[in-house]
Amino acid sequence: MGFLAGRTALVTGGSRGIGRAVALRLAAEGAEVAVHYGGDEEAAERTVTRIEEAGGRAFAVRARFGEDGAVDRLFAGLTAGLAGRGLDIVVNNAGIGSGNPIARVTPQELDMLLAINVTTPFFVIQRALPLLNDGGRIVNMGSTASRIAVSTQIGYTISKAALESMAPSLANELGRRGITVNTVAPGAVRTDLTVGYTSIPEVVAGLEAITALGRLGEPEDVADVVAFLAGPQGRWVTGQTVDVSGGTYLGPIA
Ligand SMILES: NC(=O)c1ccc[n+]([C@@H]2O[C@H](COP(=O)([O-])OP(=O)(O)OC[C@H]3O[C@@H](n4cnc5c(N)ncnc54)[C@H](OP(=O)(O)O)[C@@H]3O)[C@@H](O)[C@H]2O)c1
Repeated sequence: MGFLAGRTALVTGGSRGIGRAVALRLAAEGAEVAVHYGGDEEAAERTVTRIEEAGGRAFAVRARFGEDGAVDRLFAGLTAGLAGRGLDIVVNNAGIGSGNPIARVTPQELDMLLAINVTTPFFVIQRALPLLNDGGRIVNMGSTASRIAVSTQIGYTISKAALESMAPSLANELGRRGITVNTVAPGAVRTDLTVGYTSIPEVVAGLEAITALGRLGEPEDVADVVAFLAGPQGRWVTGQTVDVSGGTYLGPIA
């Protein structure tokens, strides 16, 4: 029996990419997983089916973040699926990227980045708190973008830095309930979000050259760390950002 047997989990953006790997991993450890998605119902259903075929339990919940009432719709679907049970694990993974330097960032783009990457996870946590069991876990998906300057991602960078800043305050507030709050900060991971540059061999070679472990990340590299933080072995880690980048841009490589 897995270490999350009997637990329940919400994974936002659990239908594809890193979130899918997290949903599969938590389910493999026995958690029942609410696989949230924004619009790609087929991908969400495929993820649920993969979990069920492996003997796990999951259900899909649709809510398009950035639209009015999205958090209400998420929690309507979530509470229906939980059917009166509490929630043990919240993984705020859904997010969008950006690729513009400051001169080209429009107010609309910045509003959308902050709405989806910061405001929505904030209110997801607020709404989850009454459902969250003592001993629960909150994991937010940050990025090495908050550590490594990439001027063409400035909007994304400030959104991830803001998200990351939530964990210490929340950890202090929720620690007496045994709830931990952490940020996982991946480097470049092969997903749909990054296919624009992870499909270019020269870019991949450049990223590998500045990464201590010498390769790009895979969604499962991140999912394993989320599972650790979500499980009993992560009980003494809270308020932290865990860099999950294979040691990207630590300094000159000899
Ligand atoms: N990939 C990387 O290299 C990398 C590195 C560092 C951090 N991250 C972070 O990791 C997280 C996941 O990234 P990923 O690469 O796995 O992305 P991805 O492959 O593009 O998947 C994004 C997931 O989020 C959902 N989503 C996107 N926009 C949404 C919206 N407006 N409302 C609701 N759901 C939405 C998608 O569902 P639908 O398809 O249904 O919309 C999908 O499940 C993000 O927070 C990202 O910033 C990624």
